[in-house]
Amino acid sequence: MSQSLSLPRPSAQAASERPVSGDPIADSPRGSESVVRAYSGRSQFRSARTAEFTESVIREMSRLAMKHNAVNLAQGFPDFPAPAFLKQAAADAIAAEFNQYPITWGVPAFRDAIARKYKAVYDLDIDPAREITVVCGSTEGMIASLLATVNEGDEVIVFEPYYENYHPDLQLCGASRKLVTLTPPDWTFDREELRRAFSSKTKAIILNTPNNPTGRVFTRAEIEFIANLCIEHDALCITDEIYEHIVYDGNVHVPVMTIPGMRQRAVLVNSMSKTYSVTGWRVGWVLAAPDLTDSIRKVHDFLTVGAATPLQHAGITALAADSAFYDHLSIEYGARRQLLTDGLEAAGFECFRPRGAYYVMTNIEKFGFANDVEFVRHLIEHAGVAAVPGSSFFSRPELGKNYVRFCFCKKPETLAAASERLRKAF
Ligand SMILES: Cc1ncc(COP(=O)(O)O)c(C=O)c1O
Repeated sequence: MSQSLSLPRPSAQAASERPVSGDPIADSPRGSESVVRAYSGRSQFRSARTAEFTESVIREMSRLAMKHNAVNLAQGFPDFPAPAFLKQAAADAIAAEFNQYPITWGVPAFRDAIARKYKAVYDLDIDPAREITVVCGSTEGMIASLLATVNEGDEVIVFEPYYENYHPDLQLCGASRKLVTLTPPDWTFDREELRRAFSSKTKAIILNTPNNPTGRVFTRAEIEFIANLCIEHDALCITDEIYEHIVYDGNVHVPVMTIPGMRQRAVLVNSMSKTYSVTGWRVGWVLAAPDLTDSIRKVHDFLTVGAATPLQHAGITALAADSAFYDHLSIEYGARRQLLTDGLEAAGFECFRPRGAYYVMTNIEKFGFANDVEFVRHLIEHAGVAAVPGSSFFSRPELGKNYVRFCFCKKPETLAAASERLRKAF
């Protein structure tokens, strides 16, 4: 059965990776902000492991966007309806009384569905009984995998720019981060730099492909190079494959786990969020060899017990979608990529055309602003469009000061409205 994604077709409208609603300060009644301020100096109640956490710039920009009624191309979640067949499957599961705790590591039929999909798409034989942990989204999958495998003092390699959660994840583990640069315009890495980043202290490398924020889809040759370094240095490769099905221009996603020698040392993290346009469901999975899965399941159990039971049941329906569903996803997002890059280029932005995922990195140097944050503030206040300052994705603000990221997981009319505002403002 061909299930089509309910991305509305070319007429189709707006808000970031996480919405501002749910923010204790932004959403609280007037007055509670002063309550928050009154209690903000109590450092004895702030654990050392969170001391260096900083508030996401994305949130600050989202609040500003709400204040100025800006079209929000900052946060990476759809503003269009989730697929009807999935909403129905979730409603059916609740009505059928799948409402109590699931088995901690996942509803068996959902784990079976996950194993079937990896067999069908990548010819991977995954044992649903011993190699799959169902988790609350990739976010939990990544932190559970790291907590289960990394000790304090271990080194973990991360490509920069990076998805902003990896840094606090590593801080929570007490691990140190070794950064390897992805260089524009292609966002490729220097092989010698990567080789030098590996040492006897390297426990793992985190690889996000297709990549947020750059849109890079790592090639098979690059993945083989990374895999060989992992094998040589007895390290794990923890992969965030959440944009697996969102690829363009004939680019192909290659899971590291499929590379010879990596079956036992790849930890594959993925979720329903992006592929099925249900970022609020919080259902994901981690595939790993049985010994690794054993540790990951224990961490997962104590962190969250389990992911929502009825939504795991709906996940069985989702993962049964045929290839037409995934083809449609890439085609639809490809059209939206075009819409947004056309709008950005017409307004004078230099765009790095993404090969996967649903973000466009842009260079804003020529606009002459002091930095990316100043630029985005101006963008929100004067053009009425919100985006993410590039420095959010770098270890040091100056590295990202010439970049701004826009997302296009929005209705076409949202993207058209943003383009029109940009055209008028620049
Ligand atoms: C690279 C990457 N990993 C993970 C996530 C979060 O995924 P999930 O909703 O499955 O927790 C995002 C969300 O934007 C992302 O871009």
